[in-house]
Amino acid sequence: MAAVCMALTSCQGAQAEEEKSSIRIGISLYRGDDTFINNIRSQLEEKAKDYERERGIKVTLDIQDAKGSQNVQNDQVERFISLGCDVVCINPVDRMDASQMIDRAMTAGVPVVFFNRQPVEEDMNRWDKLYYVGVDAKETAVLQGQIVVDLYRRDPGALDLNGDGVVSYVMLEGESSHQDSLIRTEWSVQTLKDGGVPIEKITGGIANWERSQASAMMEQWLLAWPDTIELVVSNNDDMALGAIDALERAGISGVGVVGIDGTIPGMEALEGGKLLGTVSANKEVYAAAVMELAASCALGQELPGAYPLTEGTYYWVLQEMITAFEENQ
Ligand code: BGC
Repeated sequence: MAAVCMALTSCQGAQAEEEKSSIRIGISLYRGDDTFINNIRSQLEEKAKDYERERGIKVTLDIQDAKGSQNVQNDQVERFISLGCDVVCINPVDRMDASQMIDRAMTAGVPVVFFNRQPVEEDMNRWDKLYYVGVDAKETAVLQGQIVVDLYRRDPGALDLNGDGVVSYVMLEGESSHQDSLIRTEWSVQTLKDGGVPIEKITGGIANWERSQASAMMEQWLLAWPDTIELVVSNNDDMALGAIDALERAGISGVGVVGIDGTIPGMEALEGGKLLGTVSANKEVYAAAVMELAASCALGQELPGAYPLTEGTYYWVLQEMITAFEENQ
């Protein structure tokens, strides 16, 4: 009797899921004014429309900005769940403090797709309905280093501006608590060393992914080390753009600047010859992965085969180098 009941429930459940013709997805962003996140947001909106058109399922997106506050984000997730969202997508403010949001989602049985800011493994392992979409930080950094190695091999003088046999660089780092910052910093430099670029670090600092902070920092460095800096290695495009702003204000040209992200302003700087190169994850694929995973969870369907998950949990978006010098050749 019990077995029959169970069988009936699961069949009815499956039937109910199949019949669902609309889904509601709650999305919380750590900061809506972050350039990269903004680019992903636009793509998410596009992908939701594509999904609706292609599958005939109505998708309602509720996108909220947590404005850098974990408490605000906790409340947003709480609200999504009480409004009946079928799935929530979270770009965590504090990736070390995702447990309250996870508790809430688990209790309500609402799956979560995290993206860009990776919760700690211990949290991710708490439930099999927690997923993460992002990029592999080491891969990003190695590609960034490779841009500089390629240019140096082709034309050492493009980087070693004073011809002393050493490329003197400064490093702009993202938030210290972000999984990408430390790894990007370490592996871009390691790749330069492994690739045979003779380098010397002048200085470095944490500009928290922000253009204005990086610009102020670079301005100070240019004053403290006049005619010395030959290369700026930046953990993202926005800080690279900040360094370029400071160089332009100081009337300095020729200093190489490399970024990461391939954001819209980053690509404009690259096309304008201001940025040597950047590393870009395909943002359409990034957003499509978040959307497809979320929609499958919401509909109770099998996860999309086009986005294979590592350990059943993580989807790593592929990245590519984009360089100004190759395009200009
Ligand atoms: C991006 C940064 C962005 C940060 C936000 C990083 O992966 O490279 O541009 O500010 O994520 O979490």
